[in-house]
Amino acid sequence: MEEKQMIAMPRIGEAAPAFTAVTTQGNINFPSDYQGKWVILFSHPADFTPVCTSEFMTFASMQPEFKALNCELVGLSVDGLYSHIAWLRTIKEKIEYKGMKNVEVNFPLIEDITMEVAGKYGMIQPGESNTKAVRAVFFIDPKGIIRAIIYYPLALGRNFDELKRALIAMQTADKFQVAMPADWRPGDDVIVPTAGSCGTAKDRMEKKDPDVTCYDWFFCTKKLPKDKI
Ligand code: BEZ
Repeated sequence: MEEKQMIAMPRIGEAAPAFTAVTTQGNINFPSDYQGKWVILFSHPADFTPVCTSEFMTFASMQPEFKALNCELVGLSVDGLYSHIAWLRTIKEKIEYKGMKNVEVNFPLIEDITMEVAGKYGMIQPGESNTKAVRAVFFIDPKGIIRAIIYYPLALGRNFDELKRALIAMQTADKFQVAMPADWRPGDDVIVPTAGSCGTAKDRMEKKDPDVTCYDWFFCTKKLPKDKI
């Protein structure tokens, strides 16, 4: 009988698996070093590859925007520290791409030659590659809980505007106890819980709150202006 390899796949709502690691910014103790902050832990397949380079330049350029949202970035690949350092230096010194140049990657990039961390986070997906991490993204909240996970294949670069949108959406959902409709962006109406804080279904259908719009008893939205977020 064929033996199936068990692969750890962390799940939404679970504590982020803990690890210590060597990175381009020194050693880290994950996730405890990030308590009280959001963190995006993401993997890329390999240093000195084109899609990964375009991703790192984009993410590094957006780092101040993520910091302003109380979110730190942590990268990982199964390459070693000296490869990481040489690649990041090449990016800074030589690569000009889509108006980005002289890009310094100031967030930690984990070396994971043993694949220990990649294994814990289900980043090695053998159907795609046995030797490289797929493009995984873990959103981890200030309490160390995994809140969202995205996996992309090797040949497809991620959309970093979407990562930022998802982060803002989750932070806003937490703060206002609401849910976000399809394609929500700051300033758009948000979905109110089916029962509770916004009155009964009957109240809502009768339009007692002018900021609430009900499409049916189970589907009500309310205004949440951008400047209130
Ligand atoms: C890239 O980043 O370009 C890449 C890495 C691994 C496989 C395919 C593409």
